[in-house]
Amino acid sequence: MAIEQTFSIIKPNAMKKNVIGKIVDKFESADLKIAGMKIMQISEDLAKEFYAEHKERPFFGELVSFMTSAPVAVMVLQGENAITRNREIMGATNPAEAAEGTIRKLYGDSVGENAVHGSDSPDSAKREIQLFFESSEILNT
Ligand code: CMP
Repeated sequence: MAIEQTFSIIKPNAMKKNVIGKIVDKFESADLKIAGMKIMQISEDLAKEFYAEHKERPFFGELVSFMTSAPVAVMVLQGENAITRNREIMGATNPAEAAEGTIRKLYGDSVGENAVHGSDSPDSAKREIQLFFESSEILNT
């Protein structure tokens, strides 16, 4: 199995719950390494670029507004099969449908305020990591 890197965001609603450590523990307990991490406020331009694939969706404005409403923590997670495994640890997009023990079940409030984001493919992971991190900010690259 290949070692992969994937991109993760702890969203504003989870930040307000003061659970960065609990979320990071979920990743580390699953043998995913935090290869990069920072806390930041996402600008409107960056949020629109990040979520560009959703720009025609009815929830796009709400999504950009939420993601820029308060600080987030962005991470590069690294490990075997990291992209798929991160998505399993996060749980379903809608917290109401997420499995017990997943991050979205524990800390998500709604499909929009679903606590965390994770890349859905190798191409997305590469694009999203490059959007938020300089290579000098990531370990093992
Ligand atoms: P995320 O993994 O960050 O990727 C796109 C986001 O759009 C998704 O998580 C949800 O938070 C959000 N989203 C998806 N569907 C809806 C919806 N029907 N209403 C509001 N937000 C949504």
